[in-house]
Amino acid sequence: MTDLNTRQKNTLAAISAADTADAVEALRVEALGKQGWISQLLKTLGKMTPEERQEQAPAIQQARAAVADAIADRKQAIDDVELDRKLATETLDLSLPAPATPKGTVHPVSQVMDELAEIFADLGFAVKTGPEVEDDWHNFTALNMDENHPARAMHDTFYFPDRDADDRAMLLRTHTSPVQIRTMMNEGAPLRIIAPGRVYRSDSDATHTPMFHQVEGLVIDKDIHLGHLKWTLETFLKAFFERDDIVLRLRPSYFPFTEPSVEVDVGFAIVKGRRVLGGSGDAPGHAWMELLGSGMVNRRVIEFAGLDPDEWQGFAFGVGVDRLAMLKYGMDDLRAFFDGDIRWLQHYGFSPYDQPTLSAGVGASS
Ligand code: DAH
Repeated sequence: MTDLNTRQKNTLAAISAADTADAVEALRVEALGKQGWISQLLKTLGKMTPEERQEQAPAIQQARAAVADAIADRKQAIDDVELDRKLATETLDLSLPAPATPKGTVHPVSQVMDELAEIFADLGFAVKTGPEVEDDWHNFTALNMDENHPARAMHDTFYFPDRDADDRAMLLRTHTSPVQIRTMMNEGAPLRIIAPGRVYRSDSDATHTPMFHQVEGLVIDKDIHLGHLKWTLETFLKAFFERDDIVLRLRPSYFPFTEPSVEVDVGFAIVKGRRVLGGSGDAPGHAWMELLGSGMVNRRVIEFAGLDPDEWQGFAFGVGVDRLAMLKYGMDDLRAFFDGDIRWLQHYGFSPYDQPTLSAGVGASS
């Protein structure tokens, strides 16, 4: 009995001296765990004579209750201390001014999209958007790519298993061009729009990610010709790259939705291992780089969108936003754009306080 009293006293003393939750838990296991000394004593009760049991059971039960209570109290006390410490150190004073160094940054893709909106707004273009979950009529058919058109196969399309209510195949849009169709159908003509947004293709390496960004441009009006297209692209690219010496080369190409179609190259020089845009690609030390696709909107596309192609003409272009960002701000791996790595964002991101404006130069300092 005295043995029980001594052990109980020692255990209670150890519990009140324990100062971490782990230490208390270790003491609980030592006393009340399966192999704990109190648990072992409780087991001996079954083998005793009724008289012995009557004599010893109350003391053992009392020891078990005392130790269990002491452990619960000690755990509570430790939790309270921890909570007080957290309350004291983790306070958040919402009335404090914003931190001197802003913590968040604007992603280069968002920054470039803002720059594009700013530049094109100045030229009278509105910003339009369309759904990323599209149907194959808007994404392909109305853009003059019928079911058997070989260009459909080149788009590496993600399809959904189900068709929509009009029995159209559903997909993730492979380009922003369907926004041309939706805007012509919703708003008629004349039109001057850009449509930035996400697009999807089943493709992945250092320069391709399954999701990437494009911006589409569309002008529909009367007597529009290739000269308008070239002037618009030159004006846009000079403002975007903040250089007056941007030189474009229009090369004949093919897209189902434009006729004629042109691929637009931009001249650049290699300076210290880096591509620096500017100058003719034919100048010494210079070369041409393919930048975007464009052309005069195909008559059939204007018809599909419900307009009369004898009355309305237009031009369109499509360009990769991520590619524009890489060229302007010097990143070389597209995959890092979508890793969400805070260090990359802090290095390449932009201050939320720097809104791109034409007067300040659209690419405000980062
Ligand atoms: N939609 C094309 C693509 O994703 C890009 C494109 C080319 C868009 C020519 C256009 C255009 O509007 O005229 O590859």
